[in-house]
Amino acid sequence: MTRPQPRPALDVATLVRDRRTRVVVTCGSGGVGKTTTAAAMALMGAEAGRRTVVLTIDPARRLAQSMGLIELDNTPREVKGVADGQLFAMMLDMKRTFDEVVLEHSTPERAEQIFQNPFYQSLSSSFAGTQEYMAMEKLGQLVAANEWDLIIVDTPPSRSALDFLDAPNRLGRFLDGRMVRLLTAPAKAGGKAYMKVVTVSVGMVARVFTKVIGGDLLNDLSTFVTALESMFGGFRERAQHTYELLKNPGTAFVVVAAPEPDALREASYFVERLSAEHMPLAGVIVNRTRQAEPVAGAAPLTAARAELAADGLDEKLASAKTAATKTVPTKSAAEAAALATAALRVHAEIAAAAEHDARMTKRFSSAHPQVPLVPLLALPADVHDLDGLRTIGKLLGA
Ligand SMILES: Nc1ncnc2c1ncn2[C@@H]1O[C@H](COP(=O)(O)OP(=O)(O)OP(=O)(O)O)[C@@H](O)[C@H]1O
Ligand SMILES: [Mg+2]
Repeated sequence: MTRPQPRPALDVATLVRDRRTRVVVTCGSGGVGKTTTAAAMALMGAEAGRRTVVLTIDPARRLAQSMGLIELDNTPREVKGVADGQLFAMMLDMKRTFDEVVLEHSTPERAEQIFQNPFYQSLSSSFAGTQEYMAMEKLGQLVAANEWDLIIVDTPPSRSALDFLDAPNRLGRFLDGRMVRLLTAPAKAGGKAYMKVVTVSVGMVARVFTKVIGGDLLNDLSTFVTALESMFGGFRERAQHTYELLKNPGTAFVVVAAPEPDALREASYFVERLSAEHMPLAGVIVNRTRQAEPVAGAAPLTAARAELAADGLDEKLASAKTAATKTVPTKSAAEAAALATAALRVHAEIAAAAEHDARMTKRFSSAHPQVPLVPLLALPADVHDLDGLRTIGKLLGA
């Protein structure tokens, strides 16, 4: 009989210290702890002596401040207070990154024309997927700079697990695609009949755009598209390049989830999608798991047993009070018993939460037996400074 293989644990500490690991990408649904774990892993890598940069997206204000990030900034800034190592951090400026790409791919006059275009302004600051794409663009730049031992990339909260991986393609398709060719066609084609067909198509496309982007931007669309035309090749190549970079064995994806059905479902999508695209998945962090304090040497006190014990104590206290023949408990004994009951009930609540989280985690791991996993305890308070990040690191390394 073959024995079941023990599940591989996700060893984040080894991952970030391994010299072969060059890029770590945290991904997952909204609010699960992508930014926090990205920053914690970066600090771990830096304090292990690797020159590390973390690209954060919308970090919580206090965390950003503690890393010396005051505003959106496309340049890595050194984080103060790192023991024996160098950590740099930056907050992605999506619009500025897009502007840089445009500048790089066109003449200054053309770039200016594009920047002035309301359609571009809308695309660069709000097109679904732009943030994801620009994060990847920035990652490409950081890799190309060739000055980092370790690059950790946080990703935007995805409405759907697929947004993030689809973004480069989606933007590439949009800029490169049939829609754009259709829109630019009237300028090139002669003949009224053709014009008519094209106009109808443009009308259709326009309606779609109005739906997607909203507002009254379509008059500017064709000028914008003409100006962008020279850059299509560049965009497509870059998207492709970044995509290939993600598949590189030096890249590791860390999926972050919470021990809740929705977040775990999203994590499942991520895991399956990464595997389908042959992207290197390091494993899953199940963040904010709750744990009942174990008593050394004792069997764990389950929620049910704690409840039972509390009920038992309550009953004893009540029957002692009513039984005439028995000694009435002294006031202090009664108080002690009441306190014990309350403590048991608090414990029951915590243990129930811990049991819930363990059950959730187990369900996920049964569905993905090959995926390395590590639970990360919920701290009593938000993580907003380097010490908090170190605590997260220790918990992940434990
Ligand atoms: N293990 C933990 N214990 C306690 N607090 C945590 C833990 N992990 C994350 N947090 C807190 O949860 C909040 C959300 O975390 P974070 O910003 O890292 O999530 P996110 O996935 O990046 O969110 P978004 O999708 O909005 O970008 C933060 O206030 C953070 O301090
Ligand atoms: Mg975040």
